[in-house]
Amino acid sequence: MSTLLSHLSYVAVTSPDVEASVRFYEEQVGLTVVDRIDGAVYLRCWGDYYAYSVVVTPGDQPSMATMAWRTSSAEALDEAVRRIEAAGATGEWVEVHKIGRAYRFTGPWGHSMTLHWDVTRHQSAGAEASVYPDRPSTRSKVAGAPRQLDHVTIAASDVDAFTAWYSEVLGFRHMARTELDEAPISVFSVLTTNEKSHDLGVVLDGSSAAGRINHYAFWVDTREELLIAADVLLENGVAIEYGPSIHGIGEQNFLYYREPSTLRIELNTGGYRNYVPDWEANTWHPSQGSNNFYRNGAMPMSMTESFPPADGPSATEEGVPDEIKGALLNPYAKHGQG
Ligand SMILES: [Fe+2]
Repeated sequence: MSTLLSHLSYVAVTSPDVEASVRFYEEQVGLTVVDRIDGAVYLRCWGDYYAYSVVVTPGDQPSMATMAWRTSSAEALDEAVRRIEAAGATGEWVEVHKIGRAYRFTGPWGHSMTLHWDVTRHQSAGAEASVYPDRPSTRSKVAGAPRQLDHVTIAASDVDAFTAWYSEVLGFRHMARTELDEAPISVFSVLTTNEKSHDLGVVLDGSSAAGRINHYAFWVDTREELLIAADVLLENGVAIEYGPSIHGIGEQNFLYYREPSTLRIELNTGGYRNYVPDWEANTWHPSQGSNNFYRNGAMPMSMTESFPPADGPSATEEGVPDEIKGALLNPYAKHGQG
């Protein structure tokens, strides 16, 4: 299949307190507000090439409103829509702020996805204009501020089926998966539209909720910036949930923390670049350090929380053998692998 999608372009999230979230994105993450329209706030990283990469909208709970990908051409957008509808999903054409025509559909596991070719490129003026032609604006003055949006990781009740659908229908490359040491159950997979290990991740959702997000991530250029960001966040009283450390899968440096809505965000840098068109995904086990390269830091249980928080009994509490219940709830904790 020709490459239909080129990269993740924006993530729209909901927050019970939009202003608190926006203030955090501005002051602690280093994003800039570009527009406020009908309660929605549009923000961008200093190096994002388009008008915005994050939209914060009001909502009762933290959640993902939609995740947007730019296609590789106008024809690729039409082809993607044809394939989505042939696969049994339905969506609609929508007008998106500073994007224009876009196709929005809900995937089989309840995740809203927006595909578009049209964009508005960003070019700052005045004091925010960069001296370098390729930069859309000057580097942020906030220490450790990310250059651009990087990836989104959602939660789905069947990791392998989710991976197969998005690979077969939209042409994502499947790069790696994690299977429990205790049982042949997939708990994590990474997919990509480009040379990165992933711009779409999927974690196992043990609840009956649909369309949940686990986190989304921004890119910083260097490990040193990521460490400075961690330092400054702690000095500012922002708790770090997990990291800094390195993932085994993808080999990126990572740092996880929460914005005021409680939604988890991540800073990422480093990792391999993979251009192999017929790459075959390897299966990792947590004991191999899939999540923590150094195999010495247990992932906190809180990292298994996805958004919005799930109500009712978890699937992991029913019909699951006791010996793998704990591993399902936190597949990385048992081996102290992080
Ligand atoms: Fe991530």
